[in-house]
Amino acid sequence: MTDLQTSIGDFQFDNVFMNASGVRCYTEEDLDALAQSDAGTFVTKSATQAKRLGNPSPRYARLELGSINSMGLPNEGLDYYLNYALKFQEKHPGQWIFLSVAGLTMEENLAMAHTIEESDFNGLVEFNLSCPNVPGKPQTGYDFDRTKELLTNLFTFFTKPAGVKLPPYFDLAQFDQMAAILNQFPLQFVNSINSLGNGLMIDPETDTALIKPKGGFGGIGGAYAKPFALANVRAFSQRLDPKIQLIGTGGVTNGRDAYDLILAGASLVQVGTLLQEEGPAVFTRLSRELQAVMQTKGYTNLSDFKGQLKTQ
Ligand code: SIN
Repeated sequence: MTDLQTSIGDFQFDNVFMNASGVRCYTEEDLDALAQSDAGTFVTKSATQAKRLGNPSPRYARLELGSINSMGLPNEGLDYYLNYALKFQEKHPGQWIFLSVAGLTMEENLAMAHTIEESDFNGLVEFNLSCPNVPGKPQTGYDFDRTKELLTNLFTFFTKPAGVKLPPYFDLAQFDQMAAILNQFPLQFVNSINSLGNGLMIDPETDTALIKPKGGFGGIGGAYAKPFALANVRAFSQRLDPKIQLIGTGGVTNGRDAYDLILAGASLVQVGTLLQEEGPAVFTRLSRELQAVMQTKGYTNLSDFKGQLKTQ
């Protein structure tokens, strides 16, 4: 039997796959469909305190090897997702989900953290420091001092299991600096990577940027992201305290891609663009494909190969 069970800290999951925040997790109906899929868990759309409509459309486009998006954090507001999570945990004891928050300011992040801290939510909280799509709001994850300040303020009062979602980094010095910061805090997980921020794609028929917001600039996901996701997961797995586990996100189009992220050190694998294109049934296919790769290698558990990347 090939087993896809995994865990983050004390939280056990039957399957290593889940959605990436932002994809098919906006409404209660979306979230119910994820809950009923073969995914091991799911994360809600990154929330702000108040409902947001996000950027003007078109704000998502399919590309040859993935997607470009500039959604701009459309979401129903924290209360909507928190209420859903509270109802979910009452109906499904022993099943853990992730609540994602993405405040546009430090104050908003801390206010949302207080609300969650004071609630009965018993899952994991993802602080999204890496949305590239809100005009005038740079990604916190690219500002090391700001990231440290936010985490310092957060952990003066926040006691629930938490992690951060990071943007991709491209220099080894950045991995060193960010890991040194993250290792100072009681994080359960680091989710790496968000989309490759601020790419641009052009429609050759009309010479027009494919999406409308920000003059066409948007986050790039899908197969384009795979080498960067692998490198970021690997680099952080080599630098983070082993108590901080990795969620690998980026570039999964088949079971082998997920296998590679696990080989690089991921304990959970998130699926974004592919889930957007194929819907929640994608988790059934990916699970089958990952199990087939593991069988070929003679592995029965993820721990047989997690983090075991060989180098020359
Ligand atoms: C968005 O809503 O613009 C995407 C969210 C993200 O990339 O974190």
